[in-house]
Amino acid sequence: MNTQIDNLLHEYRKFPPSEKFSREAEVSADLYDEAKADRLEFWARQARELLHWDTPFTRTLDWTNPPFAKWFDDGKLNVAYNCLDRHVEAGNGSRVAFHWEGEQGDTRTVTYAELTEEVKRAANVLAGLGIGQGDRVAIYLPMIPEAVISMLAVARLGAAHSVIFGGFSADSIRSRVDDASAKLVITADGGWRKGKVSALKPAVDAALEARGDLGPQETVTNVLVVKRGENEVDWTENRDLWWHDEMAKASAEHDAEAFEAENPLFILYTSGTTGKPKGILHTSGGYLTQCAFTHKAVFDLKPESDVFWCTADVGWITGHSYVVYGPLANGTTQVLYEGTPDTPHPGRWWEIIEKYKVTTFYTAPTAIRSFMKLGRKIPKKFDLSSIRLLGSVGEPINPEAWMWYRKVIGAKAAPIVDTWWQTETGAIMISALPAVTETKPGSAQVPIPGIAIDVVDEAGVPVGADSGGLLVVTEPWPAMLRGIWGDPERYKETYWEKFGDKYFAGDGARLDHEGDIWLLGRVDDVMNVSGHRLSTAEIESALVAHPFTAEAAVVGASDETTGQAVVAFVIIKESMLEESAAVEDIAAVLRSHVGEQIGPIARPRDVFVVNELPKTRSGKIMRRLLRDVAEGREVGDTTTLADTTVMQIITGQVTAK
Ligand code: WT7
Repeated sequence: MNTQIDNLLHEYRKFPPSEKFSREAEVSADLYDEAKADRLEFWARQARELLHWDTPFTRTLDWTNPPFAKWFDDGKLNVAYNCLDRHVEAGNGSRVAFHWEGEQGDTRTVTYAELTEEVKRAANVLAGLGIGQGDRVAIYLPMIPEAVISMLAVARLGAAHSVIFGGFSADSIRSRVDDASAKLVITADGGWRKGKVSALKPAVDAALEARGDLGPQETVTNVLVVKRGENEVDWTENRDLWWHDEMAKASAEHDAEAFEAENPLFILYTSGTTGKPKGILHTSGGYLTQCAFTHKAVFDLKPESDVFWCTADVGWITGHSYVVYGPLANGTTQVLYEGTPDTPHPGRWWEIIEKYKVTTFYTAPTAIRSFMKLGRKIPKKFDLSSIRLLGSVGEPINPEAWMWYRKVIGAKAAPIVDTWWQTETGAIMISALPAVTETKPGSAQVPIPGIAIDVVDEAGVPVGADSGGLLVVTEPWPAMLRGIWGDPERYKETYWEKFGDKYFAGDGARLDHEGDIWLLGRVDDVMNVSGHRLSTAEIESALVAHPFTAEAAVVGASDETTGQAVVAFVIIKESMLEESAAVEDIAAVLRSHVGEQIGPIARPRDVFVVNELPKTRSGKIMRRLLRDVAEGREVGDTTTLADTTVMQIITGQVTAK
């Protein structure tokens, strides 16, 4: 990390937007002035201009009960109507909403008129199953149009969705379905991944199995199953229904009812510093306003001519905000791709860009770095000349990857917007505006208009130019989380207790001499692996749940491709030493155990079996020292350890392997 910071501080290159790009751009620097003059009025104007309100709001922000914000709260709207019907009514029904590409090369083109009709049908199906305002629906689907249709159908009825990423395990589904008391689960038999069908329904079946304790079987009345993988599935009569059967029976007429701006739109679970994922709650009007605004301003959106491709899965916040809500609210044409970047060949993404003439491409640094490793020859085989703008999200992008992205994918011309935000912020918070900002490789740069951000020290005092500290948001923003589902105390504690009146993001940051922001990674026990957030505590508790494990400590070690990688140190129980010695590859056993408990994304890269863990006299594990070992560095200051020889032993054990 330190060497990385040093490198960043010597990064002085700047890339101004081309004269042509600025001239043709949708937004200009005036936005900053407008927002500065009257921040709330600025957001009110965005809300009025970008969205359709059935009942116009008269109040912009209610911050009388901080940290619980209400935006536009006396207004009413329907989120799905804003993403669908109004585009059709405006005469744009034949515009393509999605160029969908299956991993096997099968395709589907879905226009706004078709998407609207499908969502209306699905809303009727869901309403028939008893779903309405005040309910939650869990969605566990591959990247197929039905994922988007399901989300919008839930939104149309005023219910809230909880999308669970397809890579999560049965246990993770169970805890999420349970926490939100979901009434319905929408899943598929399976989806295509890496050249074969990866089953999904069995995980839902296992999650809903009665286990004697109170569980999701208490709340879930139906499972709606999309046929995609054509794999064999078990069937629970009176509970399971085929999507295509129900859709065929449903009417395509459905009038969207307007709901309050603060009606819950979705819950999305994300890892925190404890073992239990947090259900981040987002509501309707403010969230949709900021998604639509940032999508338009940051990506310089031209809805008639752009083809936008955000590669994120809808199981993550990036997919919610920049595949579903922002782009559809703006009437955008998009690419939706089911599979992995390297199936059936490593040029698959570039082939898709060429095929659909993608103009705006938004992906994560980890993907860029893995393509970089494969070499420029692969993307060079495809015509990428349609690209005019590139985006990055999920983790800091190192200047080397930034330069490669610009040169090889952006033909040395496309501006790059490095966008910082979080599941909790709902939408982009820090980013260049491509027509305005001179971009700097590696820096996310400046808060977008209407957003107030600072870097402060431990006492909450702004550090000023050329210094480092903690990133905070100093004013409420429209897409901010409204809380943690069912746990208002945890919401206050996690984000607001540290500074009282400022939102603590959990990221370290530095301001350079020009006031631009450089993100430096998490300052808490949250790891960022391939742009996905993982909690050390959650993986530790999964490891300790294995009968072999007495104690476990997990760290995020820097990794060339994935940014960070999960590295675990495990102590085996005395009573299990013999049994575990008989296992040929104990690390593999524990790795796959974590995969089963949480999901494949959480599987540690390395598992080291050790006899001791470094602890302070008060018993706190010193992860900093373990990170030194995991990164192959000389171990730092050990003087606060209860037993200072422990690190020599651990280093010896790890390097002996
Ligand atoms: C964490 C949020 C929101 C998109 C996907 C991740 C890190 C995100 C950047 C960036 C440096 C970034 C932060 C943040 N992060 N974008 N452009 N530069 N770091 O959402 O899973 O909620 O994770 O991702 O550490 O706190 P998430």
